[in-house]
Amino acid sequence: MTNDTGAETGPARLLIRDLTQLVTPAGRQAPMRGDALGQVDVVEDAFLLCEQGRIGATGRMRELPPLDGDVEELDGHRLCAIPGLVDCHTHACFAGDRVEEFALRAAGATYEELHAAGGGIVSTVRATRAASELELRAAVRRHRGWMLRTGTITFEAKSGYGLDRETELASLRAIAAEGGVPTWLGAHAVPPEFADASAYLDFALAEVLPEAARLAEAADVFVEQGAFDTGQARRYLEACRDAGLALRLHGDQFTERGTVGLAIEVAARSVDHLEATGQEGVRALAASDVSAVLLPASALYLERPMPPARALVDAGAAVALATDFNPGSAFCESLPLVCSLACTQLHLSPAEALAACTVNAAHVLARADRIGRLAPGYDADLVLLDVPDWRHLAYHLGGDLVAAVVVRGELAWRR
Ligand code: NIG
Ligand code: FE
Repeated sequence: MTNDTGAETGPARLLIRDLTQLVTPAGRQAPMRGDALGQVDVVEDAFLLCEQGRIGATGRMRELPPLDGDVEELDGHRLCAIPGLVDCHTHACFAGDRVEEFALRAAGATYEELHAAGGGIVSTVRATRAASELELRAAVRRHRGWMLRTGTITFEAKSGYGLDRETELASLRAIAAEGGVPTWLGAHAVPPEFADASAYLDFALAEVLPEAARLAEAADVFVEQGAFDTGQARRYLEACRDAGLALRLHGDQFTERGTVGLAIEVAARSVDHLEATGQEGVRALAASDVSAVLLPASALYLERPMPPARALVDAGAAVALATDFNPGSAFCESLPLVCSLACTQLHLSPAEALAACTVNAAHVLARADRIGRLAPGYDADLVLLDVPDWRHLAYHLGGDLVAAVVVRGELAWRR
């Protein structure tokens, strides 16, 4: 944090002492692949010293050097410290809800049927267009608060519920203003006022992209039956890349249609979902620099098959985990819950799950040099869990684990 003069403010130093465990993905590499994904360093009876918002030192209490001058202290007894969680795939900027559709799905309707009948994404588009920019900011702030209380410190959020110039740009501004990493999901669905996907893309690329490229870090597209095909997605992504945006794709959620190959061809940062990806896609991803972002809460919520996580990790792909938080397919902001699903449904270890939603998620957001680890030089972003062993993060399904959250060396939330 800086003041008017640009100088650092806040407590110069914060010492968190007597931690039961301090846990971090091992090494300094990003992304972590294969066996390395499961390697964490666990320090028992530990301390962590924050200096000017960064991590100054970590270690065992008995190695703690004498500290001169002002040092604020936080008691870590019975607490385990993990890196601030990183949610690299959310749709946190929306108005309204879809609880009616949720009830219809509970009674047997499918997500695809609701989408085809004019519900689904397009119903959230109607509600989001009706909201003011201030209301969108308030919505993102509320969702960010939910995330923080489950340990998410850095979150990406996509637009994609405006699909007109004004609402898309307002969404990107609202996300950035509330501390999110903005992604322009300009190709989420074809809004009803356009005859087809090509006509909509003509508009979006000519009228929205120039300003969206100034507000967002990345662009995203939903490649699926009823959304955009790979040819349309290629056109959209190439234009976004030329405008300076990093590229992401929603791919293989319901059907496999060449999205992995397209992601590799355009050198995307990630392809996300992958519930329908087969062996060939797994092999191709493992041999590429494209991260596989897995969203098991979405698969669970829509009763879809789980993505081939074990095969991806074992083949050497760069695997990240995220919530996909949105009002339709995954109304879930909790990365600890996603870690539980990763262990019980995707057959990852607790250590693999932790690395996938810290360092590897930070890599998807091009921030792995600053966040995702508890090591000297990284941002002092950490979560204190009220647990006897850090693996309760995944073990306690839906548990209320987070005792406190420290952001850039300052206590941001405490239970
Ligand atoms: O990632 N698949 C497309 N988009 C979102 C769902 C959005 C919605 O249902 O509102 C997803 O699942
Ligand atoms: Fe999504």
